[in-house]
Amino acid sequence: MATTGQYTIDEFVSAAKEAVQAANGNRQQVVEQLQPLVEKVVWDDGLFDEKYRAEPENGRPRYLYHTEDDGSLMVYVVEFVPGMPTPVHDHLTWGLIGVCGGAQKTARYQRVDDGSKPGHADLKLLSETVLNRGAVYPLLPPNDIHRIETVGDQPSYSLHVLGVDLGRQHRNIFDPATGEVTAIAGQGM
Ligand SMILES: [Fe+2]
Repeated sequence: MATTGQYTIDEFVSAAKEAVQAANGNRQQVVEQLQPLVEKVVWDDGLFDEKYRAEPENGRPRYLYHTEDDGSLMVYVVEFVPGMPTPVHDHLTWGLIGVCGGAQKTARYQRVDDGSKPGHADLKLLSETVLNRGAVYPLLPPNDIHRIETVGDQPSYSLHVLGVDLGRQHRNIFDPATGEVTAIAGQGM
């Protein structure tokens, strides 16, 4: 088979499985090991092969590459259509997001209260940047609160590598203006 030398999503999934096993629960280690590989694999046009197309979740089309049986690793691309930004949300797990198409305005927040008031969080905006293909950022709790919005009139795409199956995960959405926190479950964003 001809090879272009491009690092493929299948190679990445193998490496990610190994890294998760080897890290034995050390989330920082997994993220540090996998970030350079995500930076390579976001250039693989094989990400958009129709064979990976999966059911949309929460109205967002997806390409799914791997779900570990025990839910400890999930690798997929989400298509973000214009005019449908995500709420501000967390994942409550380690993650790497790599933009692989289009332009994504990405806001990242830090929680600055002590968490003592149920249903309430004070957030500080850390950064808000428009990211293009090749941009990769880690998410590690408690600094995993973010929001994604497509810029322009074409969809944007990002690879999500997460230490949990978000379809099974209970997590939160935030209103930075009022501080209100709402628990959610099972939404792939
Ligand atoms: Fe997210």
